[in-house]
Amino acid sequence: MRAVVCQEAGGPEVLAVADRPDPSPGPGQLVVELAAAGVNFIDTYLRAGVYPASYPHVPGSEGAGVVVGVGDGVAGVAVGDRVAWESAPGSYAERVVVPADRAVPVPDGVPLETAAALMLQGLTAHYLVTSTYPVRDGDDVLLHAGAGGVGLLATQLAVARGGRVITTVGSAEKEELSRGAGAADVVRYRELDDVAADLPRVVRDLTGGEGVHVVYDGVGKDTFDASLASLRRRGTLVLFGGASGQVPPFDIQRLNRAGSLFLTRPTLSDYVVTRDELLGRAAELFAAVEDGTLDVRVGATYPLADAPDAHRALEGRRTTGKVLLVP
Ligand SMILES: NC(=O)c1ccc[n+]([C@@H]2O[C@H](COP(=O)([O-])OP(=O)(O)OC[C@H]3O[C@@H](n4cnc5c(N)ncnc54)[C@H](OP(=O)(O)O)[C@@H]3O)[C@@H](O)[C@H]2O)c1
Repeated sequence: MRAVVCQEAGGPEVLAVADRPDPSPGPGQLVVELAAAGVNFIDTYLRAGVYPASYPHVPGSEGAGVVVGVGDGVAGVAVGDRVAWESAPGSYAERVVVPADRAVPVPDGVPLETAAALMLQGLTAHYLVTSTYPVRDGDDVLLHAGAGGVGLLATQLAVARGGRVITTVGSAEKEELSRGAGAADVVRYRELDDVAADLPRVVRDLTGGEGVHVVYDGVGKDTFDASLASLRRRGTLVLFGGASGQVPPFDIQRLNRAGSLFLTRPTLSDYVVTRDELLGRAAELFAAVEDGTLDVRVGATYPLADAPDAHRALEGRRTTGKVLLVP
């Protein structure tokens, strides 16, 4: 089979297609013929060496496809079943070994590409707005990178719960997409002279001087100060990523001075701990797709061999919605 293999950490050019032995399923495992793999920011952190990886490294953790092999001790899954996953290392490959307990059955009404697009970013959007800070009817919400993969999904889910969502985006095209997802107000933050000073002022103007109940911030370094200053008293900052870089060490007294704020830095694996939790969140997402209340935008699809271009686009802020790789 063909897979994308990195021999060392580096820029997008280290992603090269190579032949690998066809995998066979060990106990508790499935082998799945890939329909689509998701491209995620964490793949770029691992490729670049921001997070440690061992080499040769096959990137990717997310995808969907059809089961072609079932290992010993696996019950309830058969060859031919359609499954999706968010945590199978080596997913940028024609055949992927998936731990059976992380494989989610995909309903007939959901295309495999949509399922691949929903697993990591969709489950993230779901836990952020339902569990980390559960959006309540009437809440004011600020969400950065509103036209991104997590952004478009989280906006729709937060609006469905009654939130009034303000987003930030990097371009006019992204503004249109974000409004389409339900954002009530959209700020083009790259046009602000000083994001840390100007964005909180805009947000306060939009919220009657109060600030928002919650900020979901996956941009990190460039937005963190603005996010804190955009919160109302006892508001919650959910820092869930660092697309612009990691936030430096933080003086905890700032939470006190800024109005008894809450700060959390969540990660998906802590919100899909048990199989029931994984299946429950995925079932809600799939049901919303099937009844038409959740639109999943696949902004770009690349062949496996063009993985370097997919990473360049994601890191260069040129993507909207989900980026997929197909065999
Ligand atoms: N904690 C978790 O469980 C979890 C799970 C999944 C993802 N994440 C994180 O969530 C964030 C969003 O992930 P995603 O996959 O949905 O990506 P994405 O939002 O589709 O893409 C990232 C977006 O961030 C914005 N951005 C701002 N400054 C940037 C910079 N300097 N470089 C690159 N992008 C910049 C860009 O949008 P604009 O052009 O609109 O600014 C860009 O399109 C990432 O930080 C990711 O690591 C966290």
